[in-house]
Amino acid sequence: MAATLSFPREKIRVLLCEGIHPSAVAYFEERGYTQVESLPRAPSPSELRDLVKDAHIVGIRSRTVLDRDALAHAGRIFAIGCFCIGTDQVDVESAAERGIPVFNAPHANTRSVAELVIGLSIMLERDAFRKSGLVHAGSWPKSAAGAREVRGKTIGIVGYGHIGSQVSVLAEGLGMRVVFYDIVPKLPLGNAAPVATLDELLAASDIVTLHVPQTAATTNMMDAARIRAMRRGAFLINTSRGVVVDPEALAAALRDRHLAGAAVDVFPKEPLSPEAPLDSPLRGIPNVILTPHVAGSTEEAQEKIGTEVAGKLVAYSDRGSTVGAVNFPELTLAPHGPVNRVLHIHENVPGMLQRINSVIAAEGINVLAQHLETRKTVGYVVFDIERSASTALLGRLKAIPGTIRARILY
Ligand code: NAI
Repeated sequence: MAATLSFPREKIRVLLCEGIHPSAVAYFEERGYTQVESLPRAPSPSELRDLVKDAHIVGIRSRTVLDRDALAHAGRIFAIGCFCIGTDQVDVESAAERGIPVFNAPHANTRSVAELVIGLSIMLERDAFRKSGLVHAGSWPKSAAGAREVRGKTIGIVGYGHIGSQVSVLAEGLGMRVVFYDIVPKLPLGNAAPVATLDELLAASDIVTLHVPQTAATTNMMDAARIRAMRRGAFLINTSRGVVVDPEALAAALRDRHLAGAAVDVFPKEPLSPEAPLDSPLRGIPNVILTPHVAGSTEEAQEKIGTEVAGKLVAYSDRGSTVGAVNFPELTLAPHGPVNRVLHIHENVPGMLQRINSVIAAEGINVLAQHLETRKTVGYVVFDIERSASTALLGRLKAIPGTIRARILY
């Protein structure tokens, strides 16, 4: 009787849109999820509505919009995976109200960004990018003047988070001195040295690389005064967010040679199509490397995103774990072994736990473990119980006023 309650993995329909990396399909299939459909493109809004009707798990990238309306047509979905960094394309609060956790992979491309920063540092110090352009154009600027090794130079890392700290490790491997500035005290890796102020970092660095999030404090953080506070002949690298640097001030400092070069991957206003030109005062300035917001875009990062998000979806589907959900109470749950696990998602109102407990107590069920977490309007409670769950118990749990969803795992 109990076994019929469990939703078998082979009956769980997984819909993946927008050519998500095959690593995700493989991850699901290797764990017994046989109904995985992978669309190579973004479905149109009407197509999406049809597709999501029967899906239990939906995976998207940045071009598929799951707004309140689309979610209203997706009665079966119990988890959403954004196989990318951001989750703006999903109405995550509306999903939470429907008891649907949303997962993403915010740091899967950390290493890719860090590697490019090191590559850009070398290209800038060697003046290699400008020289390459000259050779393409037909000249042969063979000279050591102005070309330097990165070894022994000081790199100043602004924002010592996931990416900044990786840059730190790689830069030290090349024999660079590392200083960093962060508003939160951070454990320095290797011989990296924290500095107390941004201005101290700017005065000490041959290369300044930015790895901060976009906040009120970081918007226009590198304004004209800060750019002028950098050493004469230094380099600036921005792979963080476009608004962190004032592009006009940077262009002016490059034109009058206060800075010897820059590498910029992110811009306040980025083109919306591959054909559209970038509108930036930095275009055309020598020794400025411009890349189209690709610092984190590598095949390895895509593959990692595939397994990371699929892993979070499977952890939720198989054992109720919501680690890494962006919109949901987070519970870290180990596999439950030979017991039943009850998942109850409800409105975060007083008395809920007591009502759920009374239903379980009335069944005479022995509770082995209980976990509760709440976030905003949603509460999530998980019980491991002795193997005695029944369809009747599930029905009674679902009947509790304020219940959003309930599931029993075996
Ligand atoms: P993270 O959140 O791990 O680290 C950010 C660090 O900046 C934290 O340590 C934080 O304390 C620090 N911070 C915040 N405000 C600060 C301030 N005012 N001054 C100094 N430090 C401050 O973020 P992560 O993953 O390292 O990403 C960094 C940036 O890189 C983000 O802006 C992200 O959007 C961007 N990014 C860009 C990519 C690209 O393709 N160009 C790819 C991935 C991330």
